[in-house]
Amino acid sequence: MLAALAVLAGQDPPVGGPLPEITAAEFERFRVGLEDFTSVETVADGLGPAFNAASCAACHNVPAIGGSGTITEIRAGYRDDDGRFTVLGGGTLYHLFSIPPHNCHPRIPAEANVIARRISIPLFGGGLVEAIPDEAIVALEDPEDRNGDGIKGRAARIVDVATGRERIGRFGWKAQQATLLAFAGDAYLNEMGITNDLFPTEAAAGISPETLRRCDAASDPEDVRDRLTGLRGIDKFELFMKFLAPVPRGPIDAAVQRGEQVFREIGCAACHVPELRTGPSPNPVFDRKPVRLYSDLLLHDIGAGDGIEQAAATGDEIRTPALWGLRLRRPLLHDGSAATPEAVIRRHDNEAARTRDSFLALPRAEKEVLLAFLRSL
Ligand code: HEC
Ligand code: HEC
Repeated sequence: MLAALAVLAGQDPPVGGPLPEITAAEFERFRVGLEDFTSVETVADGLGPAFNAASCAACHNVPAIGGSGTITEIRAGYRDDDGRFTVLGGGTLYHLFSIPPHNCHPRIPAEANVIARRISIPLFGGGLVEAIPDEAIVALEDPEDRNGDGIKGRAARIVDVATGRERIGRFGWKAQQATLLAFAGDAYLNEMGITNDLFPTEAAAGISPETLRRCDAASDPEDVRDRLTGLRGIDKFELFMKFLAPVPRGPIDAAVQRGEQVFREIGCAACHVPELRTGPSPNPVFDRKPVRLYSDLLLHDIGAGDGIEQAAATGDEIRTPALWGLRLRRPLLHDGSAATPEAVIRRHDNEAARTRDSFLALPRAEKEVLLAFLRSL
């Protein structure tokens, strides 16, 4: 309702609202999706045996449902002296919590020598990001650095679990999924321990198969179709995220405009590409729309990697995060280890070393306008 009023008044939709142009039927699907996204699952629904939170919204709620969160996840693995990465004990994601009587709590194996933390990524504008064609991302790749700018960038070639087709991943810190449905299935299993049609086997890093059998009584898949709507949980999460609007830009003044120019001049925009476009779509909401996300959706090594190999990404690579909505999100970087955008820029290295040095060499006034631009996103 709030969203409808804002549209009537010709204003931006509120953060956490749906895309303004959707139909009434789509709004209803968004609403049904939002309801399930916030609903808290119980052991009877299949929660656990180990899990990170009991609802999607538990980790996606700042500053509105769909946003970032305050729970940090743990991944772990083993890297040998030759740099080879091994997944220990059935996976890299080690859950924080377990269901009563808590005798199924996962343990990080003692051999683990890579421990990584990851914070949640806001979902605002997810449907638009999903609608960007694979080719548009591939067109930005430069793995051999042919243009000699020191910046490479690799598209994450993955197999989409929902269709079995090779796609370009774009969601997650490692660009591990290409579609919202696949990510919904992945998250339902990996965050909440709820098996589903796309991910039918319990994830249990750090839990032995015998313990798992003893601890998990529910039959798989635990995500079942709603009798009324015919939709599975994963379908509803997809609908909510698909129609969720991006965060509107903050005020743009002369300093912000000048700051964006500096952002382009010193090379930030080579990775944080200001605008991509969705492909042709029968749905006008997604048909050839600008997506002002400030990301190329490619994997880069900027020296901040977490050591975990996942999907197409090496331990050193992280997908360029989108910068839209940056002003509403703290902390920053995949592990939440940076408090401010300026601290983040100083952490850019390797492929981004030249750009970082250009930033550091800027006169103070130029630095200030660049930071003002980042505060406007
Ligand atoms: C325990 C916290 C937690 C819960 C619960 C959770 N998420 Fe997330 N979410 C995260 C984290 C952390 C990431 C980044 C994951 C990564 O790449 O390693 C993420 C990333 C995502 C992304 C990728 C967004 C992007 O633009 O890259 C999607 C989509 C997503 N979550 C959807 C969901 C859905 C749907 C649910 C419920 C089924 C859910 N999440 C539950 C923490 C959580
Ligand atoms: C070579 C590609 C590349 C270049 C050039 C680059 N970045 Fe980044 N940027 C990244 C990657 C990859 C990350 C994610 C690193 C991580 O999370 O560990 C990132 C993270 C960020 C973040 C944190 C976003 C978040 O959600 O945590 C900000 C802010 C940012 N960059 C701003 C800039 C600015 C400003 C410049 C120019 C001075 C710049 N970047 C240049 C690739 C790049």
